[in-house]
Amino acid sequence: MRKIAFLYSYSPIIAIFVVKIQRKQTMALIDKINDLLGRIENFNATSAAEIEDFRVKILGRKGELNDILEEFKTVPSEEKRVLGQQINAIKTKANERVAALKEALDSAPVAAASSGDLSRPAMTENLGSRHPISLVRNEICDIFSRLGYTIADGPEIEDDWHVFSALNFAPEHPARDMQDTFFIEKHPDVLLRTHTSSIQVRTMEHQKPPIRVICPGRVFRNEAISARAHCIFHQIEGLYIDEKVSFADMKQSLLYFAKEFFGEQTQIRMRPSYFPFTEPSAEVDVSCNLCGGKGCNVCKGTGWLEILGCGMVDPNVLEASGIDSTKYSGFAFGMGVERIAMLKFGVKDLRLYFENDLRFLGQFDSVL
Ligand code: DAH
Repeated sequence: MRKIAFLYSYSPIIAIFVVKIQRKQTMALIDKINDLLGRIENFNATSAAEIEDFRVKILGRKGELNDILEEFKTVPSEEKRVLGQQINAIKTKANERVAALKEALDSAPVAAASSGDLSRPAMTENLGSRHPISLVRNEICDIFSRLGYTIADGPEIEDDWHVFSALNFAPEHPARDMQDTFFIEKHPDVLLRTHTSSIQVRTMEHQKPPIRVICPGRVFRNEAISARAHCIFHQIEGLYIDEKVSFADMKQSLLYFAKEFFGEQTQIRMRPSYFPFTEPSAEVDVSCNLCGGKGCNVCKGTGWLEILGCGMVDPNVLEASGIDSTKYSGFAFGMGVERIAMLKFGVKDLRLYFENDLRFLGQFDSVL
């Protein structure tokens, strides 16, 4: 500076030149200050480390502010006042920005915490539940699989042979009437199966004894919908064919099922009955699991609940499916899943199973 003062006291041209250089330097410094002020204002950070880096880079010993102060020394004294104020502003603004960012960072977890208890379990997703009919069907299949039965399947759209003729239904049997069975228009031989006994026939046609199958499926009947009946429902059929299979085998198997499904204390009783495909035939009752056999409104005071039909497979049925009835015998049984589920859960109206009310359907997953 002294050199410059010396120079321009001797030469006015040099003096003008020096003033021009100084002017240029001052302008550059103003630009630098403005640029830095802008960057301070726009600075953002997501961590304390970032904030500290920023602070050191600007206010630290080797920081940008010190560079600016160094350059400030060469600014002509008449401009120092204004520029000095701006340089001071850098310091204040940088400090303010650092403080504000630190506070925002510190208060972030506090804000989350104040919105609730952070140790609370996360919101659970409603995963839905299995349908009670599926639960009961699976349970029944599981019980029989423990006795060595495997699952067999068949079509819902059937023909007369598998649903009626092969099962020994007489030609004039009422089940063959349109009143009871859904036939396909213009195709008298095509119908919706009215029972899962048709799967017995299909199994015997394709497998050689010993046969031990359980056949769950949907069935269709031309019935008015009420609390006790529906036009679509579910059945489970069972079939056991081997040499020397007896009525006693059937009774023991069904007693095992009843105890497994309704509880160890359950008793069964068999009443004579009639089905075209079994001889002799029986209906099986279980002791009422709701009143323990004392009599209640579910068992209508009898202490017993009817759960299934069964019988020794009629030799005509074995022969119709190509099984030698002089060598083999067997038993079959069939039950309605909705009915069993109603008895198990104490549900009084069968229609509830078909209405898809989630408040009803969600109650059974934990029961079975
Ligand atoms: N198919 C009969 C029905 O739909 C149920 C039935 C009864 C199946 C006796 C059988 C049986 O296998 O032996 O009502």
